[in-house]
Amino acid sequence: MASDKFVMRHIGPRDQEIQEMLNVLGVSTLDELISQTVPDNIRLKNPLNLEDGLTERQYFRKILALASKNKVFNTYIGMGYYDTITPAVILRNVLENPVWYTSYTPYQAEISQGRLEALLNFQTMVCDLTGMEMANAGLLDEATAAAEAMVMMWNSRSRAKAKANSNVVWVDEKVWPQTLDVLITRANPLGIELKVADWKNFELNDNAFGVIVQYPNSDGQIVDYSALTKTAHEKEIFVAVAADLLSLSILTPPGEWDADIVFGSSQRFGVPMGYGGPHAAFFASKDFFKRNMPGRIIGVSKDAHGNRALRMALQTREQHIKREKATSNICTSQALLSNMAGFYAVYHGPEGITQIANRIHCITALLEKEISSLGYSQLNSTYFDTIRFELPRHVKREDIEWLSLELEMNFRYFENGEVGLSIDETTNLDDINWIIEVFAKAANKPFGKITEYPAICTIQPEFLRTTNFMQQEVFNKYRSETEMVRYIKKLEHKDISLTHSMIPLGSCTMKLNAATEMLPLSWIEFGGIHPFVPKNQARGYHEMMEELRRDLAEITGFADVSLQPNSGAAGEYAGLMVIRQYHISRSEGHRDVVLIPSSAHGTNPASAVMAGMKVVVTPCDERGNIDVEALRQKAEEFKDTLSCFMVTYPSTHGVYESSITELCEIIHSHGGQVYMDGANMNAQVGLTNPSRIGADVCHLNLHKTFAIPHGGGGPGVGPIAVAAHLVEFLPSHPVMNNGHVGITAVSAAPWGSASVLPITYGYIKMLGADGLKRASEIAILNANYIANALKDNYGILYTGENGRCAHEMILECRHLKAASGITEGDIAKRLMDYGFHAPTLSFPVHGTLMVEPTESESKQELDRFIDALTGIFNEIQAVASGVMDKEDNPLKNAPHTSDVVTADDWNHSYSRQTAVFPLAWLKENKYWPPVARVDDAFGDRNLVCTCEPIESYK
Ligand SMILES: Cc1ncc(COP(=O)(O)O)c(C=O)c1O
Repeated sequence: MASDKFVMRHIGPRDQEIQEMLNVLGVSTLDELISQTVPDNIRLKNPLNLEDGLTERQYFRKILALASKNKVFNTYIGMGYYDTITPAVILRNVLENPVWYTSYTPYQAEISQGRLEALLNFQTMVCDLTGMEMANAGLLDEATAAAEAMVMMWNSRSRAKAKANSNVVWVDEKVWPQTLDVLITRANPLGIELKVADWKNFELNDNAFGVIVQYPNSDGQIVDYSALTKTAHEKEIFVAVAADLLSLSILTPPGEWDADIVFGSSQRFGVPMGYGGPHAAFFASKDFFKRNMPGRIIGVSKDAHGNRALRMALQTREQHIKREKATSNICTSQALLSNMAGFYAVYHGPEGITQIANRIHCITALLEKEISSLGYSQLNSTYFDTIRFELPRHVKREDIEWLSLELEMNFRYFENGEVGLSIDETTNLDDINWIIEVFAKAANKPFGKITEYPAICTIQPEFLRTTNFMQQEVFNKYRSETEMVRYIKKLEHKDISLTHSMIPLGSCTMKLNAATEMLPLSWIEFGGIHPFVPKNQARGYHEMMEELRRDLAEITGFADVSLQPNSGAAGEYAGLMVIRQYHISRSEGHRDVVLIPSSAHGTNPASAVMAGMKVVVTPCDERGNIDVEALRQKAEEFKDTLSCFMVTYPSTHGVYESSITELCEIIHSHGGQVYMDGANMNAQVGLTNPSRIGADVCHLNLHKTFAIPHGGGGPGVGPIAVAAHLVEFLPSHPVMNNGHVGITAVSAAPWGSASVLPITYGYIKMLGADGLKRASEIAILNANYIANALKDNYGILYTGENGRCAHEMILECRHLKAASGITEGDIAKRLMDYGFHAPTLSFPVHGTLMVEPTESESKQELDRFIDALTGIFNEIQAVASGVMDKEDNPLKNAPHTSDVVTADDWNHSYSRQTAVFPLAWLKENKYWPPVARVDDAFGDRNLVCTCEPIESYK
């Protein structure tokens, strides 16, 4: 194979090794293995109709050419997206750093202390700025955060309110249009009545359970909602506030006027606009809501030796545990972007953030003064960064528009002809003069050059913040770049990522995120574009997205794709809403039952509940396959109300069920639709596809199959692909025409997390049709190679008809526990001593580990992993046979820190060598867990989810 082919960089094993592995499996070719694994009746007859793979160099030129078709103007549109300066130290050491972007969601706390600390910083910053008691580690975007706030208020209603079915939420008409649209989408299926009005006219009576307002509002006006909040509380009505995080450094935070929930976007804390995303939303509330709070909360706890240790708190709130009782489906979120925003706060500190906010306000005030002097009327009586002008009678809006475009600037244009400007931290003196020039020329007035901007503040004193924030040490320590880079590195060194070793997480597909795929992320031509600019400024984006949609349609066999959903679970929700709308369009809106196999991921039932569906769980048989007869019975029983069936393929049990086409036929024959969860699409690409198996809609986890990195828990991208009869229902957008006219928006941005799409685009373009198929085949080979090596000691829970697993397998651990008392959790922690991240723990079957190696892992790495698990198996045998103590053994005490093994005292019945160097190669490349086993229960009992206050350091 030519050495410049990307496929040979993406795929781990060399040709020679592939042959060796096939020999071990007793087959002579890859084709033979695949035909033993993938049922013949679903195999594709023809190769994918995609171009041949490009070399990395060719792709680089191609993406560069596309980037140059995007025009980066100075954009003053605002509306939730602002230009920002990403400190280079954060760009280089976080966004561009594979340790940060290839790590996984911090479920395994001991090897995630660095990113847990970064997220705790984010939470602390959010709590302080909003004035709230607690905050989570981030949500998908501002609009979906608004929907989460609405649903959390709904689920937290007093018993009396719930009994009386108080179902009205009042929303101020001056929230962002995209926020309103997503609220409409989410309210409808749940039976929540959304009333939109001027907040002064809210009827706060017994029917209402919540209000949502924006601060400053969508015009830019700062409004005093304290009286509204007081009245609402008197009627047991919650108050949720969409806020601008930066403004809260100088404005009275909503927590100080007793708001219940404060949410918004943290984008302008150093995260590029990226044509709409990804950015982390923030979400803060009173402590009262802690058990209902969506998303992940990082909390402080202690390890086995009493040392401070961080971990994800209150995990019983999460959708995968609550299943059909779930109130939110958030799984993958925006961790990498939360980290960036948190680091921005660390680097600037409270005084830096305040300075930035003050400067923005001064420039805005100056512009108000100058533009008003030209005859325009500014309409906001008090504002932070946004002003709105009524034009003099002789000035035409069109003139402003073309004059501003001439100078490469975008302003906001209201429907009534007024013009808005939102200033950001990048705005400088030149920009100020250009803005004034446009307004002056349009009014035919002379104008003088501004040479400085005075420190003026037009905000009325009653709105000004008087309290301190971010006083904790971490926000006051790292001002020089040298100190900052060392802090980032200090955290980084605590974590395991793909740069250390394979991350064998079943269902998560931790494959290579190639550097060439990642490079364009840092380019201003992708990062510097506001999502609401005229489309002709984003030609490169649109060309790429069109091609990407076409390619993904080809790969799935479907007719069209929506790029809007920004996580897998968001895709599930979008797909189910599309199905719902399809039934409604056929006057069958009563179809609301969804059949979900017991092996499904927790987000499936959670998304179904959010889409207003009734979940009916169907069983699997003893071989792990969906029980066809049981499904048939349920489909028959619910034939009049059957909406759809959600199925993951290959199954979460790691098997290609040959009954899949029959299952789909059963559903269709009873009037239902088939939703395919695309988490395992990496075992389908080029071999079969969702259309071929009989599905109608699927989501794709671009952050699994299509090389977008996991980022420590996001970004995720979850586009949906649909069959022709569903295209007309794909989600639209209230501000931009995104080419679809179906349901209202499911995410804030018209094309979701557009700025990470070049990663997937690059992945497809560089692998091409052959490479994509090869990736699926090697994923299957690698999994079967591991399964073969471990089948005799652990045992593989489920296999297909020919004894093969798909791209992942479930390792049985329950017999080991019965014999030795060693649990799957102990095995997971002991793997850390061997330098590995644990496989997926107890999903989808309790007491097991699910392993997915991916195609990117080499034979050497697979062998290392097999060695580690074999070593652990031998240790378990030693415990079972009494050679090792039942309690004092390296498994129960894992992971071992350097502190513990270098202490003067060593009171264990096994050696220090056994503890930390159980295999020879560890001496050459040792990862040291920074904390010992973390005590989850302690942290949940004593919930602390912010950094310690400054006093604790004195
Ligand atoms: C089978 C399956 N479905 C759905 C999801 C949810 O995807 P996301 O985390 O992107 O929301 C996952 C996530 O791990 C999964 O494994």
